[in-house]
Amino acid sequence: MRITMVGTGYVGLVTGTCFANLGNEVTCLDVDPVKIDKLKAGISPIYEPGLDEMIARNVKAGRLHFTVDKAAAYASAEIIFLCVGTPSDARGHADLKYVLAASGDIGDAIEAAGGETGGDPGERRAKIIVVKSTVPVGTNAKVREAIAAKTGKPFRMASNPEFLKEGAAITDFMKPDRVVVGVDDEHGTGGRMRDLYEPFVRNGHPIYVMDIPSAEMVKYAANAMLATKISFINEIAALCEAYGSNVDEVWRGMTSDARIGNKFLYPGLGYGGSCFPKDTLACVSMGSESATPTPLLQAVHDVNQRQREDFFAKIVKHFGGESNLRGKAFGVWGLAFKPGTDDVREAPAVTLIEKLLAAGATVKAHDPVAHETARELLGDRITYCDRPMDTARDADALLICTDWPEFKQPPLERLRETLAAPVIFDGRNLYKPAVMEEAGFTYVSVGRRAVNAPAAG
Ligand code: UDX
Repeated sequence: MRITMVGTGYVGLVTGTCFANLGNEVTCLDVDPVKIDKLKAGISPIYEPGLDEMIARNVKAGRLHFTVDKAAAYASAEIIFLCVGTPSDARGHADLKYVLAASGDIGDAIEAAGGETGGDPGERRAKIIVVKSTVPVGTNAKVREAIAAKTGKPFRMASNPEFLKEGAAITDFMKPDRVVVGVDDEHGTGGRMRDLYEPFVRNGHPIYVMDIPSAEMVKYAANAMLATKISFINEIAALCEAYGSNVDEVWRGMTSDARIGNKFLYPGLGYGGSCFPKDTLACVSMGSESATPTPLLQAVHDVNQRQREDFFAKIVKHFGGESNLRGKAFGVWGLAFKPGTDDVREAPAVTLIEKLLAAGATVKAHDPVAHETARELLGDRITYCDRPMDTARDADALLICTDWPEFKQPPLERLRETLAAPVIFDGRNLYKPAVMEEAGFTYVSVGRRAVNAPAAG
């Protein structure tokens, strides 16, 4: 099939490349010529395992193209995927300006395209416009209106939410748990979308074809549920600390109940990234706009914010007051919002570092891949170290913000000797408190007793 992806951000690029990889003819369109030139030269703007090789292979094979030429990209496409950004304002409203601008351009292109989409038999070949960006329920209808305002020729609409996890996006796309497609004609458009996705679900996983407003809601419901699980366990972890329980044991005891399950229930610094914070707030916003309050989801968001505050409060408490942080040196392990990505959007590390800097502390940080992206937010206000151990040199404490696998078994003795004081604040519960106690560290984590800490003893 001939496919055009609009927007070469994370979703557009991964989706387009994976479609090309199965033999489709894919054009990726973006308004940013610098980005397009880089992609043509084989340079991916994002870090995602396996993506660079897949782009290079498919460009070489002549199936994957990059362009800034809207008219040509729209004219040739059978299916157009809208993957442009939907930034949210402080209240969580999604800004649809990019989606609606692209919709208008698509309408112009359909109007200009002539015979390809016209006539009765041609009706079956009408272009399908697929909304893939995460947008509030009802946006599909607005896109349809924006296109119809420009042309009377036929076109079809579909909603196709994505469920990609950064760092595992290629695998998630190639072997999805499920594909969700919203359409308003199950056989025509639904059938063509099924044909497109059928090769990806040879693993036996389902393609669900449903009405458009339901498909639009699935993504929000799924992400709000996952965010709720994280805030839930973080709230339980806080109770564990207050009552001397160990959240690891509580986790084991509760998650062996199959109704609860053991996934996505790890306490820590809370969720970050481009989806959960935005989508949770978008649900709250959809609620207030429809006079359907969502107090649970507001609380999920509030707990997530509080999680970072509470962890910073533990650092302050250790040093006997915020004013004592002035002049202290901190090593930080992990800047990305989670392992396997260079994405630092809404990353707990950035929040905590900003607080440390504001209190007059200095920071040396290490992340396996996120130095460049972090520099965009933090500039040269911190030092970026190539090796984790270099951040610990002469530091008054080490702060762990991301659960990268390479942080899981550090040489503890060397670490203790390198730090000016053997103090670790572990926001990801990477180590066992008893092991750290034995190794002579003051060790403060989430939902478990602090060891060798003045407050604990
Ligand atoms: C998420 C969804 O998983 C994906 O389906 C959706 O399409 C986009 O949003 P992503 O943002 O890449 O994907 O991150 P994910 O791996 O889901 O992790 C989200 C955050 O939750 C991370 O900050 C992670 O550290 C945190 N997390 C996750 C926890 O704190 N505890 C957990 O148990 C799991």
